[in-house]
Amino acid sequence: MSTAPQGAPATAPQGGPTLLTARGIDKHFGAVQALYKVDLDLPAGAVTCLCGDNGAGKSVMTRCISGIHAPDHGEICWMGEPVSIRTPRDASHLGIETVFQDLALADNLDIVQNMFLGREIVRRGFLDEDSMERAASKTLAELRVTSVRSIRQPVASLSGGQRQSVAVAKAVMWNSKLVILDEPTAALGVVQTRQVLDLVLRMRDNGLAVMVISHNLNDVFEVADRIAVLQLGRMVVQGPASDFDRQSLVDYMTTGTSSRRPAGSSDPDGAVS
Ligand SMILES: Nc1ncnc2c1ncn2[C@@H]1O[C@H](COP(=O)(O)OP(=O)(O)OP(=O)(O)O)[C@@H](O)[C@H]1O
Ligand SMILES: [Mg+2]
Repeated sequence: MSTAPQGAPATAPQGGPTLLTARGIDKHFGAVQALYKVDLDLPAGAVTCLCGDNGAGKSVMTRCISGIHAPDHGEICWMGEPVSIRTPRDASHLGIETVFQDLALADNLDIVQNMFLGREIVRRGFLDEDSMERAASKTLAELRVTSVRSIRQPVASLSGGQRQSVAVAKAVMWNSKLVILDEPTAALGVVQTRQVLDLVLRMRDNGLAVMVISHNLNDVFEVADRIAVLQLGRMVVQGPASDFDRQSLVDYMTTGTSSRRPAGSSDPDGAVS
């Protein structure tokens, strides 16, 4: 289990080519060092689960990739080229869409209005409602989100799982290549969680890179092709999901190390156990 060294070919052991490579990301807020030299690889066609205890730095890392926070140091490469992601718009232009922990949907607007918020289709000075409805319906159908009664329903009237599905559909509608979901199932029941995990797998099967942040070990082992663990702002390990079991993942999340590392795996610094 290792983080690819700098200059390594842009391929990953699971999934397709590495879309996003972060190296040496530092971020502090006043006296709080939220991230220390974090390396992260996100390959296409794979689900990478970013795990860690409360306050480990998962959301801050997400916000650094999404153009909300500027890292203090470090480099982000997109398809092998260094990029500067200064705003969420920069991230969108690259094909990075994020569903944040608080979802950021507008309750008073309907599903179509939410999916096009800030990117409305306008024709001859008027909103092109038909085109937006068609595109929203198509995306929801592709993701097999069939439980909403009407795409003109206000988001306030949706269940937690339906809201999460709309947020995911909104993220994938914009030719996204990397979709990041911060705690997508935290507020959901069993059936709704299943629906969201199915969406994650469908995006992966469509060739997208997906990063899922989750505390829920069932969810992690259900969808992860790769697992990366942050502990107190440091990336302590990342590698194939098959290299982890529940106990080793908990060990890494809570102590930053594990004595249950399977044979053949290695520490992030490359030392083979
Ligand atoms: N805007 C901010 N200003 C100051 N400190 C912050 C800010 N955002 C995050 N932090 C701090 O950075 C650290 C990492 O926070 P982060 O939100 O990334 O944790 P997390 O791993 O997402 O946790 P959780 O699982 O609880 O969501 C914490 O100590 C947090 O208090
Ligand atoms: Mg968080």
